[in-house]
Amino acid sequence: AALTRVGHRVTTDDGRSFDCPTGDTLLRAALRAGVAATYECNSGGCGTCKYTLSSGSVHQLDPDAPGLTPRDKRKGKMLGCQSIPLTDCEVSLVAGEAWYDGHTPPRHLRAQVTDVASLTHDLREVTLRTDGPADFLPGQFAMLSADAVPVHHGSPGDAPRRLERAYSMSNLPNPQGVWQFQIKRVPNGAVSPIFVDRLAPGDTVTIDGPYGHAHLRSTERDVVVVAGGSGLAPMVSVARGLAARPDAARRRLDFFYGGRGAQDMCAGAFVEEVSAALHSATLVEAVSTPADAADDGWTGPRGYIHELIGFDSLPDLADREIYVAGPPPMTDAVVRMLVLDLGISTDNIHYDKFF
Ligand code: FES
Repeated sequence: AALTRVGHRVTTDDGRSFDCPTGDTLLRAALRAGVAATYECNSGGCGTCKYTLSSGSVHQLDPDAPGLTPRDKRKGKMLGCQSIPLTDCEVSLVAGEAWYDGHTPPRHLRAQVTDVASLTHDLREVTLRTDGPADFLPGQFAMLSADAVPVHHGSPGDAPRRLERAYSMSNLPNPQGVWQFQIKRVPNGAVSPIFVDRLAPGDTVTIDGPYGHAHLRSTERDVVVVAGGSGLAPMVSVARGLAARPDAARRRLDFFYGGRGAQDMCAGAFVEEVSAALHSATLVEAVSTPADAADDGWTGPRGYIHELIGFDSLPDLADREIYVAGPPPMTDAVVRMLVLDLGISTDNIHYDKFF
């Protein structure tokens, strides 16, 4: 009997091909099939997943996604993370970075909430449990959606979709299937207030992951991490990954964290946790609200973290692996400073852009 295929066949102009399950995006289907494709945010913001469609047709989830410029649109470019194939397709994808060892393709997993803890006034640590192991690399992220999140009806004819958001794991991969995320309440957000205020033990969450390139590299270099706002979680995972290495006692970690106000500062406990295993671990925290606008008792540095990082106090900066996570303007500012002002090789700087 003929085999029926659920979904569509996608062929790339350099001769790769893969099946795209019904309703899945072009980008995710490629990654699930082990086809390297370039991407960062997986949610329409960064434009890294641009491609051109040579034949076939796709539905675009968000035709106005900020990742596409008007010029891109005129040239017929589309975003792989926003495209759902409606027919078999031929596409030209930009080949991704070399596939890393021990890579786990992203997949859908059902998980149960086992714990929700408050880290700050608007940041929750949500612990989930899956049946199988939690397979990812420290620093990676997953797309989360919860049954408690309303279904989104797009344009007529679209399959209804539950809204999802990208969150980074803050713990380490483990065979027990424990996944921890730090979720910040975005005022007026469509998803995060539900995660922060309504999610409770026993609730079901869907994890789609892992994704992301800003994972801990297995080199012998010492590490610098720079985290802003909700970029804390992946940097905590990177720090924990470093501390779990057999040679941790020889490794140095410099951890920089920037938040809006004194009430956002919570990196200290994580740096303390890893410091025992490492040769050294230092923390610099800064709040961005100026002193005259805040009455928060903060006595530490004030300003944007990229302006305060004591990069000059790190004489061997060029020999470090540097990880950056946070809002795109902060990530851009840090990366620009490292590359343009300090001449650091982009090979040593790792980040994913979130929106
Ligand atoms: Fe598609 Fe960022 S816009 S990965």
